[in-house]
Amino acid sequence: MNYQIKNICCIGAGYVGGPSMAVIADNCTNTIVNVVDLNQERIDLWNSKDLSNLPIYEPGLKEIIKRRRGKNLFFSTEIKKHISEADMIFISVNTPTKLKGIGAGEAIDLKWVEASSRKISQYAKGKTIVVEKSTLPVRTAETIKNILNSNTKKPNVDSNNQEFYILSNPEFLAEGTAINDLENPDRILIGGDNNNAIQALESIYSNWINKDKIIKTDLWSAELSKLIANAFLAQRISSINSISALCEVTGANIKEVANAIGKDKRIGELFLNSGPGFGGSCFKKDILNLVYICKYYGLHETANYWQQVLEINKWQQERISNLIINKLFGTVVGKRLSILGFSFKKNTNDTRESPAIKICKDLIEEGAKLNIYDPKVKSKVIEKDLNLKESIDFDNNSELGEWRFASNIEESAVDADALIFLTEWEEFRSINWQNISNKMRDPKWIFDTRSIDLSKEAQKFGFNIWMIGEGKNYS
Ligand code: NAD
Ligand code: UDX
Repeated sequence: MNYQIKNICCIGAGYVGGPSMAVIADNCTNTIVNVVDLNQERIDLWNSKDLSNLPIYEPGLKEIIKRRRGKNLFFSTEIKKHISEADMIFISVNTPTKLKGIGAGEAIDLKWVEASSRKISQYAKGKTIVVEKSTLPVRTAETIKNILNSNTKKPNVDSNNQEFYILSNPEFLAEGTAINDLENPDRILIGGDNNNAIQALESIYSNWINKDKIIKTDLWSAELSKLIANAFLAQRISSINSISALCEVTGANIKEVANAIGKDKRIGELFLNSGPGFGGSCFKKDILNLVYICKYYGLHETANYWQQVLEINKWQQERISNLIINKLFGTVVGKRLSILGFSFKKNTNDTRESPAIKICKDLIEEGAKLNIYDPKVKSKVIEKDLNLKESIDFDNNSELGEWRFASNIEESAVDADALIFLTEWEEFRSINWQNISNKMRDPKWIFDTRSIDLSKEAQKFGFNIWMIGEGKNYS
């Protein structure tokens, strides 16, 4: 086998395919990297001249695109052509939770993985290494292998001398820090059963990553490790969030508790920020999938254990909506509320499973008029997430909840009774309190669900302040 990978094709130009291939192209300048997708609009955005129009916002991404696009990095919808030219193909397509049929609501919908495998089977030529980059249920490689080899087994079919090698190489990047995570990963995980193929992928990564960070293992362990890494991370968030409520009723402070326990090396300091519950496209669907797999194998206690991580996450979001309504005298009908932050975390335009969606929906259901501001999320995305058209003007005579997009913090605060911080964007730390407080209606509230800790400054302007996990209320 040829160890020198000259031509890579990545199927799926999303949050993983785009940034991960950009970083490979940036570090392997002699390798051609083609990122292909079915979605013409997405590909057009990847090719847009104005780099602020890229479909994904990630700090550091546009600089790499500027350096490599058109040189050894290309975005295209010519799937057949680029599959047939590639000696290594990454499958980086979406793997959401199944919405219907067997396993609906829990199992992963593999239809996009299957479609990609069929395309590879149809168009690939010669020896091809197929790399699972998507997060997949354990043993999916077996399914992919069957589909890929279906052509080669048919008599009288020109199989283009196909020979496939399958590797699992799950991606651990987090959105908002994707470029740094890809350039300096904690580890690279490669699962496979063919040493030459493993070495070929290793030779790509070793252009910028120290070899001792590359873990080589079998296919099933690699596939399962990705699900388990996400489950453990999400479990920490549910653990700290469950304690945030206990802090609030006992007078303790969640930040103090997190600091004190995090200093124990066995626990560690990271991923102990209490918040409105975890969002993002991965944690919920991967835990649901873990629960499904456990049930499938009859491991009901294990399934119930991980299900609880999701139950606490749901409870935390509901708890916050209820608490806001209660503090605002038990009703938000007709009240204007400023929602600050809609993405599921800072430094991304991604809103998938964002806790802001559930909290905003709850408040709208109760009759609130929301002014929503987010520095990177567009109003049409919010419209889709809330499944409710944006109001041009609020109807003061209607008790129905509504929402409107605000183009900055000041605009969102006009006539508002409360500022509700749902994402921890840096710009929220340097608010002009004088200016904002003059625009609001008294008594005015801050609900800080992200421990941004605005109390010192904001208190001077007469705000009532509720902070997640704080036993003490400020006013
Ligand atoms: P995404 O939805 O942003 O992108 C997937 C892309 O694949 C879409 O643009 C879609 O049009 C394209 N696609 C689907 N089927 C196709 C086909 N047959 N041919 C060509 N293109 C096709 O998804 P994502 O967030 O990039 O996630 C991709 C995978 O990576 C998932 O399995 C996810 O669990 C995993 N993952 C995601 C993250 C993350 O932070 N988003 C991190 C690690 C792993
Ligand atoms: C996650 C994993 O971190 C990453 O390794 C995997 O590849 C994809 O899934 P991502 O979802 O992009 O990444 O972001 P992450 O930083 O993990 O945050 C997920 C959610 O948890 C966000 O809503 C975030 O605000 C929340 N979170 C995170 C907390 O509430 N507290 C924390 O301490 C950390």
